[in-house]
Amino acid sequence: MNKILEKKVLAPTLKQIVVNAPLIARKAKAGQFVILRVHERGERFPLTIADYDREKGTITLIFQEVGASTKLLGNLEVGDVILDLVGPLGKATKHPHAKRVVCIGGGVGVAPVYPEAKELYENGVEVISIIGARNKDLLFYVDEMKKVSKELYITTDDGSAGRKGFVTDALKDLILSGMEIDCVIAIGPMPMMKAVSNLTKEYGIYTIVSLNSLMVDGTGMCGGCRVTIGNEVKFACIDGPAFEAHSIDFDEQMRRLRMYQEEEKLVDCKCGE
Ligand code: NAD
Ligand code: FES
Repeated sequence: MNKILEKKVLAPTLKQIVVNAPLIARKAKAGQFVILRVHERGERFPLTIADYDREKGTITLIFQEVGASTKLLGNLEVGDVILDLVGPLGKATKHPHAKRVVCIGGGVGVAPVYPEAKELYENGVEVISIIGARNKDLLFYVDEMKKVSKELYITTDDGSAGRKGFVTDALKDLILSGMEIDCVIAIGPMPMMKAVSNLTKEYGIYTIVSLNSLMVDGTGMCGGCRVTIGNEVKFACIDGPAFEAHSIDFDEQMRRLRMYQEEEKLVDCKCGE
C-alpha cells in the first residue's frame, strides 16, 4: 500500500510527500518518474521521483497544485493511501562523461533537477547549480542543492533573493566568466528549457532537458507524450523524459502542453471527474 508517511508545504501551492513504495525505491534512478491516480474516476498523471531511500523503501514526490488531480493529491494527509502508483517509469538520465556539470532548476523544476545533481555529485562530478524562482517565497531545496553542489547560484525574477533575473542570466555569467562547462542539465518550465537550449547551442555546450509532456499510460501506447527531436518522433515516457536539448522542437511541445487547458479549468476538483 502506497501510504503517505510525511507531508510538507515547501512554498504556496507546492507540496512534498514521502510515500511508502519499497519496490519503486529499490529500482529508482535520477530522471525516472511515477504515474499516479488519486481518485478512481480521476486522470493519471506523472511526477518525477525527487528522491528515494532504498533502505527505508520510500520515494519523495514534489508537486505544484495546478489542476484538479494535483489538488486532490495535495488534500491527502499523512496516513492516507495513494490509489495507484506505478513506477519507476522512463529511462534514467544518461549523464555524459563530464568533469563539471551545471545543473539548472527553474521553479518546480528544482525538484527533478535535485536527483540529477545528487547522482552526479555522488559519482565525483563537480556540480555547479543554478536555481531560480519568481520570488524568494517560491524558492525551495536551497540547502539540499547546496549539499551536492560546489557552487550554488540563486536567481529571482523580482530580485527578492540572489541575483535579479532568470536562470539564463546566471548561466550566461558563468559562460562569459570563461568557466569550462562539459554539460548543462536544465529542468523547469518549457520556455526556460528552450531559452537555456538556445544559449548553450550558441556556445556549443552539450545540454540535457527533461520534458514534462502530457502523459496517460506512461508505456508508449497512447502517443500523448509525443515529441519531435530532429526528424524523429520519440515518446517522452519510454525514450525520455530526458533528452539532448538542441534538436528538440520546443514550440511543438509548448503547443501540446496547452491542448487541454480549457478542459482542465472545467474539472471540479472535489470529485476529480
Ligand atoms: P516559473 O514560471 O515560476 O519559472 C521558474 C524560473 O524559470 C524563473 O524564475 C526563471 O528563472 C526561469 N524561467 C522561466 N521562464 C523563462 C524564460 N522564458 N527564459 C529564461 N528563464 C525562464 O516556473 P514554475 O511556475 O515553477 O513552473 C511551472 C511549469 O514548470 C509548469 O508548466 C510545469 O509543468 C513545469 N515543470 C516542468 C518540469 C519538468 O520536468 N520539465 C517539472 C516540474 C514542473
Ligand atoms: Fe502514452 Fe507516453 S504517455 S505514449
